[in-house]
Amino acid sequence: MSEPLIIAIDGPAASGKGTLSRRLASFYGLRHLDTGTLYRGVAWIMLRDGFEPRDEAAAVKVARAFDPEILGSADLRTPAVGRSASLVAVHEGVRKALFDFQRSFGLQKPGAVLDGRDIGTVIFPDATVKFFITASPEERAQRRYLELRASDEGVTYEGTLAELKRRDERDQSREEAPLKPAAEAEIIDTSKLTPDEVMARAVRIIDNVVRGRT
Ligand code: CDP
Ligand code: CDP
Repeated sequence: MSEPLIIAIDGPAASGKGTLSRRLASFYGLRHLDTGTLYRGVAWIMLRDGFEPRDEAAAVKVARAFDPEILGSADLRTPAVGRSASLVAVHEGVRKALFDFQRSFGLQKPGAVLDGRDIGTVIFPDATVKFFITASPEERAQRRYLELRASDEGVTYEGTLAELKRRDERDQSREEAPLKPAAEAEIIDTSKLTPDEVMARAVRIIDNVVRGRT
């Protein structure tokens, strides 16, 4: 196989795209990039240095100087960082500054699984296979609530649902790279599926595409 295999996975928060991406990367021997961590990394630096995430000039500066090393060291998974990530992600200059890193990551052989919001639409419109992973807001809020509750007893299901809907709305309605399925994306609603079932569907689809191109 000469061309790198690139699997693009988009979807809203807690849809299960990270879980599927990690499994696919391990199954096909590909590298994996959770592109949300790039926006979370920029947001984390902004918060640490006392910048307001809406400050576009500061956000672009941070994104241009972005060092992926930060991804392993910072606490990026908190709700505050998630909220700020979606605020810095609306800035066109931030998205442009992170573009090349994502492209080069995917283009190294043997290829990669990238997950995020705009992989199939903007970063890799030329991906080998594209998925849009989704689930009902209530199901996603329940999943995120269970994750957060493990480390924070103050978290509530209602608060998690409200925050998740606000973030969906911001990600879908922004001008730059809004969250939406790519035209040819395979859509999987994971609301009533187990991670194993989602994986089995995705592998069937990928194997069909890969068989067709060799
Ligand atoms: O894990 P979760 O789905 O909650 O969020 P994430 O994937 O870490 O992304 C955090 C935020 O970064 C999202 O709400 C988006 O605003 C932004 N993001 C983006 O704009 N484009 C991407 N490719 C990935 C994330
Ligand atoms: O990356 P994203 O924010 O889209 O979601 P995730 O972190 O992969 O998944 C959120 C939670 O949903 C995890 O606890 C998964 O075990 C669970 N889940 C799933 O990923 N897929 C299903 N079909 C059902 C549950």
